[in-house]
Amino acid sequence: MFHRDRSFVGRFAGVRDVEVVSADGCRVVDARGRTFVDFQGGWCVGNLGWNPPEVLARVRSFDGPAYVDPDFAYAPWAELAERLVALAPGKLARAYRVATGTEAVELALQLAMVHTSRRKIVSIEGAYHGNSFAARSVGNDTLPAHLVGMKHLAPPLDGRALARLETLLKHRDVAAFIMEPTIMNLAVLIPDPELMMGLVEMCHQYGTLVIMDEVYCGFGRTGRLFACQHYGIEPDLLTLGKSLGGGVAPIAATLATERVARAVKGHVDFCSTFGWQPISVEAALATLDLWDARGADLLLNAGERSHQIRVRAAEIFDDAELRIQGLAIGIGLHGEEPLEPVETWCRDHGLLLYADGDSLVLFPPLTVDEATCIEAMDILAGAVE
Ligand SMILES: Cc1ncc(COP(=O)(O)O)c(C=O)c1O
Repeated sequence: MFHRDRSFVGRFAGVRDVEVVSADGCRVVDARGRTFVDFQGGWCVGNLGWNPPEVLARVRSFDGPAYVDPDFAYAPWAELAERLVALAPGKLARAYRVATGTEAVELALQLAMVHTSRRKIVSIEGAYHGNSFAARSVGNDTLPAHLVGMKHLAPPLDGRALARLETLLKHRDVAAFIMEPTIMNLAVLIPDPELMMGLVEMCHQYGTLVIMDEVYCGFGRTGRLFACQHYGIEPDLLTLGKSLGGGVAPIAATLATERVARAVKGHVDFCSTFGWQPISVEAALATLDLWDARGADLLLNAGERSHQIRVRAAEIFDDAELRIQGLAIGIGLHGEEPLEPVETWCRDHGLLLYADGDSLVLFPPLTVDEATCIEAMDILAGAVE
């Protein structure tokens, strides 16, 4: 199997030594019969645990149209859009239909540029917002992608970052400021509340729109449904993806305020062929139903497990920087040693986690129980010893 993968599958890095055959809840099983506790969660696609029965059953029994032309109407599109904007923070009033997080970001950037008639974007230095040229331009780019005029706000993202942001905005040429409210792609960097609570006002003072990218940190990961709710942020644009489809089907969305949506109507032409395909919409609606029924319990559990893991991590690591918000868990080790051997050791002993620079990153599903957290942290403790 690995031989065929190496021969035929396009990849940019080596394949990890896990051939997945099934997944359920917190666990992944491979072709060698090994079972792993999965604290990677597929980059947070699996916030609800793998194969959530409520979502899977709905997708399996779906008998609606396989495809609907984007220019036609389809009642579940209207239902999903209405429910998303009702859940979303602030004055977000429209949901645009896209298939991936990259498309959601791409559209948000285009909407901001058209709305403001400006070309520049400010993002966080080292950020990641997807794979298209524009998304890569606003991220930690490795391609010569200069389609978008870029400026970066560099960490530390403390209260003083607001003044640095102002110097980037004050020429009134910046269409949008984009960031993940909890920066998952910087190994769970949690910005200072002072920065977060001041940034919308600061941006609006200079005519800049605020894009909150919740593709990764949204849907409960940080202990709130959306991470920007920790700070009362009311964004102009919000991007969603990954676990919106319950880990069962691909779907993403760009949410905009009515003011933005009205201004860009007729000036932007953005159509995603597979944006909100019926089967994915069914998965997303089932996901929202699950959130309606069990959301409070999921967030409560996330809080309790978060505390449990924080306490144990503090025992295991003497000198670590614990960056923990809900079940977004970054353990900064500031060491010289690369951490990939820790990731590999844990995998060999039944735990999947990420090594990211000088940090270990853990994304347990929001459904994880106490015993599984003990099991996982015991493995991690063994790796450190
Ligand atoms: C914050 C953020 N935005 C956008 C994306 C792009 O999402 P996708 O891979 O679905 O295109 C990602 C993917 O990891 C992400 O982390």
